[in-house]
Amino acid sequence: MARATYDTRQMNIFISPGLKFLLEGFFTILFSVSLMIYISPKLTLILVFALPFYIITIYDFNKKLQPISKAQVEQNSRLNEFLQESVTGIRIIRSFVKEDEEINYFDIQADKLREINTQRGILSTKYYPILITILVIAFSFLWGSFEVTKGRISLSQLVSFVMLAMTLNSPTWQLGWASTQFQIGMAAAKRIYNMKTRQEYVPEAIIPIEWLETKGEIVFENVSFSYNGNNTNEKTLDRIDLHVPAGSTIAIIGSPGSGKSTLIKLIMRFYDPTEGRITIDGIDLREMSLSSLRKNIGAIEQDIFLFSKTIRENIAYGKPQASQEEIEHAAKLAQAHDFIMSFEEGYDTIVGERGVKLSGGQKQRIAIARALLGNPKILIFDDASSAIDAETEREIQIAIANVLKERTTFIITHRLATIKNADQIIILKKGKLVAHGTHIELIQSSIDYRRLFERFSELPPLKTGVKE
Ligand SMILES: Nc1ncnc2c1ncn2[C@@H]1O[C@H](COP(=O)(O)OP(=O)(O)OP(=O)(O)O)[C@@H](O)[C@H]1O
Ligand SMILES: [Mg+2]
Repeated sequence: MARATYDTRQMNIFISPGLKFLLEGFFTILFSVSLMIYISPKLTLILVFALPFYIITIYDFNKKLQPISKAQVEQNSRLNEFLQESVTGIRIIRSFVKEDEEINYFDIQADKLREINTQRGILSTKYYPILITILVIAFSFLWGSFEVTKGRISLSQLVSFVMLAMTLNSPTWQLGWASTQFQIGMAAAKRIYNMKTRQEYVPEAIIPIEWLETKGEIVFENVSFSYNGNNTNEKTLDRIDLHVPAGSTIAIIGSPGSGKSTLIKLIMRFYDPTEGRITIDGIDLREMSLSSLRKNIGAIEQDIFLFSKTIRENIAYGKPQASQEEIEHAAKLAQAHDFIMSFEEGYDTIVGERGVKLSGGQKQRIAIARALLGNPKILIFDDASSAIDAETEREIQIAIANVLKERTTFIITHRLATIKNADQIIILKKGKLVAHGTHIELIQSSIDYRRLFERFSELPPLKTGVKE
């Protein structure tokens, strides 16, 4: 955020008025000095003597300024980041009664920034080139008066010469200011440029293949993945082999941190496998055009993100030209239509920043509608139904079953009804695929799978007289 706002502004200030000052300063000096030489080459020697002092002091000034400028941009960025985070995390701060602590921390950081700014201010006041210019003016006057008494130049020439020397004051100041701003602008430009040249997580293939005949058959061939790249033994996914026929539903289960979300991030190609490969309809994901891949995948991610726009705009995010009928159809399938209509402004209700005005379950259903609207070939649910009550989930299940006839679906969930209905089930454990099969098969062969069900069958029977 700081890069996009503060740093670009600093670059901007260097270009305007910084560059203007540089040019103006340069031409003023050129013009004044030429005239000074014309009036009295001898007196202009003063400037020649002064030149090395100019060079030394400007060089010294810039050298001292550089670290301060760098610290200034960095501290500013730190402050920005902190501010943004504490505003988004304000509920957590309040719930842990940390307001004072956070305010204190902000004060400390703001103090640091002020200190750096003061340092810069003090340094700027010690801009010695200005002093040199004043000395140049004084010497011109003294030496010039002497020359006038000797009759070597006229009084009017002396006055013109001194006036010209005085015009050098402003360019000296301008050049100093511009070089200060140049330092800050450069520090800012470096930060912006570093980000621009940073490698995206996944590069687009040189000749990307368009995914035209979308069927949705997905194959994992010996896929390993680690968030730290190759130089680690910690594998988040460890040699996964998997074949998902087009149009089938696959349930992924496993304890927290076992790699379920990571597996689907690889399908959306947010990351590339560190070993092995993933193909869709026979095309290696690394060779497929990123947009044609992602346009054909509808994802309901674990952390739902909604934009601070209307419900309609959120549902139609991937397909802004969608008609009201299409939007409502998707919302109905996601069991979202009724609660949306219960809002005074219906589909025009603004959901607030990140959807704060909606409940967790409502946000999920809007996200489901958003994913369904694009009519994707592959559908991914990450824990999507866990915040929806069993009754609604059953309704969604039926609705989705209807629209999913020709879709490949990945569902990460702990809901037994959903798991049971899947064509195949895989269990992940610390990144390894430890069991694989249908419900009937796994109930007989996998201890992990049985354990999942035992949790529920251990429930004692209801007391007599209690209505369900
Ligand atoms: N962006 C990331 N950078 C580094 N490590 C990550 C990142 N995302 C996840 N991990 C690590 O990868 C492992 C698998 O995470 P993943 O999110 O796939 O688990 P999960 O099975 O989806 O868990 P859950 O059921 O809690 O959602 C975890 O150990 C996690 O710490
Ligand atoms: Mg997850």
